[in-house]
Amino acid sequence: MPLPTEEIQRRRTFAIISHPDAGKTTLTEKLLLYGGAVQLAGSVTARKSQRAATSDWMELEKKRGISITSTVLQFEYHGYKINLLDTPGHRDFSEDTYRVLTAVDAVIMVIDAGKGIESQTRKLFEVCRKRGVPIFTFFNKMDRPTREPLALLDELESVLGIGAFPVNWPLGTGFEFRGVYDRQGKQVHLFEKIPGGGQYVAPVSVTELSDPAVRAKLDEESYAKAVEELEMLDIAGVEYSPELVHDGKLTPVFFGSAMNNFGVQLLLDNFLERSVPPAARVAVDVGAIEPQDEKFSGFIFKIQANMDPRHRDRIAFLRVCSGRFDRDMQVTHSRTGKKVRLSNAHRLFAKDRETMEEAWPGDIIGLVGYNDFGIGDTLAEDPRVRYDEIPRFPPECFAFLHNPNTGKFKQFRQGLEQLLQEGVVQLFQFPDSVQKVPLLAAVGPLQFEVVQYRLQSEYGADSRLENAPWECAKWLPAGTDSKALRLPTDVRLAEDSSGRPALLFPNTWTQRYFGEINAGIALLDLPA
Ligand code: G4P
Repeated sequence: MPLPTEEIQRRRTFAIISHPDAGKTTLTEKLLLYGGAVQLAGSVTARKSQRAATSDWMELEKKRGISITSTVLQFEYHGYKINLLDTPGHRDFSEDTYRVLTAVDAVIMVIDAGKGIESQTRKLFEVCRKRGVPIFTFFNKMDRPTREPLALLDELESVLGIGAFPVNWPLGTGFEFRGVYDRQGKQVHLFEKIPGGGQYVAPVSVTELSDPAVRAKLDEESYAKAVEELEMLDIAGVEYSPELVHDGKLTPVFFGSAMNNFGVQLLLDNFLERSVPPAARVAVDVGAIEPQDEKFSGFIFKIQANMDPRHRDRIAFLRVCSGRFDRDMQVTHSRTGKKVRLSNAHRLFAKDRETMEEAWPGDIIGLVGYNDFGIGDTLAEDPRVRYDEIPRFPPECFAFLHNPNTGKFKQFRQGLEQLLQEGVVQLFQFPDSVQKVPLLAAVGPLQFEVVQYRLQSEYGADSRLENAPWECAKWLPAGTDSKALRLPTDVRLAEDSSGRPALLFPNTWTQRYFGEINAGIALLDLPA
């Protein structure tokens, strides 16, 4: 019997993506404030002096002012059950962020209206587009000098290649930013700055565009410009299409200022109304699994150990895809084929956790203490179901990790093993070498710092990094006789952690050269 749909229909599972500093953290706080999940804004990541609460699990985050780990925030608002997944926002390309994006049904893309689309936004956008995830756009920092709003819309279309439908439109920008016009409600929302305003829901008055109060608030030029632009959008702008939004081909656009709480309510309400509840997910060899399928299934998209010093343990984050989760239920673990009883499941609101008795499609469960679970694994009542949702990326940075303190060998080994399981970095070894120093590989060098930091803070193990000369790994196709290969100097034969043979190249030139002297060998970007 299929599940009742109400619980599924009211779920919204999403993430916020942005370039660092565009305002993702601020907007997260404000969504929680407006969603009633926190009393005062500022408690999510508390800025600089205030930063204390929810997403500062690691000291390193605080030191660098970046968010490395992902937070799951679940709250109820106007009948919706919202799961907001925080994506790590550092400058490096991060696999962790990409994995989080596999677990969401929509994203809000925050763009600094003064800067337009920046590099990280573009990368993250591409991942979402490939997955066909609906994308909502919030142009932030409208209280500061910005680019022309029409130029910003154009950029979405020309740079990202996505249609843009402004749901609201700014009245003035920078110092003159007074409010937005809601194009469907045909009403003006005038914002008011109040002292210490960021902490509280901003006062808003709603009225007609022709209201003299609106004219009085704006200078003549800004008013005339907004009226003209709105007319242009009505005549020449794209039409709204829920289907195109759901397919990720049209982005509803909002303008505002997260810091001042301007436009946050409109964004939240419109987002919930226009975004989609959990949809079917495709399982390998089985096909589409509908969320209302009575059998429970889900996949693990993130593993995190020692998240909170109060609970020194390992959490596997699972996204529920179908069926209802009940505590103590028995499922099959796809990779080992073993039956597992899920009795230790938690709901997490950032650092705080409580036992989860039930969960529905779209929800995220934190499974504590299951050491067999790895990233990408499926847990399902039907043992045939296996999801293949987690993208993999070829590493571009390599470094040896030395243990300078042999007395701490056990801690070093144990910590490294845990971090490898979490997918923080990958490991390579040289089968033909007596040297057994682990060679780490990652997509960005910050991951190495994370490893060193966590080895030290969580396992008390020192480490020393030695840069390695390679910048690319390619895997050998199955059945290749590695002894018959001609390897240019500086190219090394290595094995990944599953023992699959790969070649490490110092640059693209040696790759091309290798191709020429080993005609017929088609190297793989990722292990088969
Ligand atoms: P991120 O998570 O995307 O990296 O950005 P974050 O929210 O941390 O915001 C980056 C900076 O931009 C912060 O300033 C924040 O206050 C500011 N900011 C966010 N939204 C707005 C906005 O609507 N208008 C303006 N003018 N600024 C905004 P900071 O100086 O780095 O930190 P803080 O000392 O202000 O906390």
